[in-house]
Amino acid sequence: MPHTAGNPLDEPTADPFEIAAQAAADIARLTGVERHDIAVTLGSGWGRAADLLGETVATVPADEVTGFSRPALAGHVGTLRSVRTPAGRHVLVIGARTHFYEGHGVRRVVHSVRTAAATGARTMVLTNGAGGIRETWRPGQPVLISDHINLTAASPLEGATFIDLTDLYSARLRDLARQIDPALDEGVYCQFRGPHYETPAEVQMAKTIGGHIVGMSTALEAIAAREAGMEILGMSLVTNLAAGIQTTPLSHEEVLEAGREAEPVISSLLARIIEAL
Ligand code: HPA
Repeated sequence: MPHTAGNPLDEPTADPFEIAAQAAADIARLTGVERHDIAVTLGSGWGRAADLLGETVATVPADEVTGFSRPALAGHVGTLRSVRTPAGRHVLVIGARTHFYEGHGVRRVVHSVRTAAATGARTMVLTNGAGGIRETWRPGQPVLISDHINLTAASPLEGATFIDLTDLYSARLRDLARQIDPALDEGVYCQFRGPHYETPAEVQMAKTIGGHIVGMSTALEAIAAREAGMEILGMSLVTNLAAGIQTTPLSHEEVLEAGREAEPVISSLLARIIEAL
């Protein structure tokens, strides 16, 4: 049911899984697709991948689906799209990500993932634009996420919900991605809260504790996807080298520009990977 006032997830007594089930019912009704097989969240730079996956069956404004809101951010799309691949699989393309830094709480951040699971999707592909810590990486380069360090001090899990996060970013799916592009490197993603970029000292901390990529999304979503029993593939587009690794100041414009330049290449890579899933 579309909402005009307030977000039902903001009601503390609401059951987020019940709201995700309602959202999945909205998607089935609005797209005419009863079940989806794969879900993909498109981050900065990955937007065009949806066009390459197959035939778009329906595009739905995010705010017509229970619990979703339009992203405030330039460079983010604000739609949910149902795409049928040439092999006949149904992909739910999520172009409406709520970031933790927006301050609406973790339930809203992971609502798209829980909704994807409720539509039937067993595979969750999470993409983002991020800063690279490895000096050999270049802006425009896609990397696989091998693991994460969650520096938000938050979790989408509530209560005594003890979930194993070993192999959170599926080794099987990473291998499959490397069969498509053997040059794909991989690294550990550190989710910071943002919305400020990191200080050079924070980037050095991330490097010291085992991080290779810094960003403001993905880790919380991956945890929710694991809780929902999905298999997860994570990919970052290195839009810039992280603060202090590159000597010039970081800007959102630079991040968007790197995304625009890399978009055709990484989008076709992602489409080929998804076709192979
Ligand atoms: N840090 C955090 N988030 C980002 C960055 C970064 O350097 N680049 C793109 N998103």
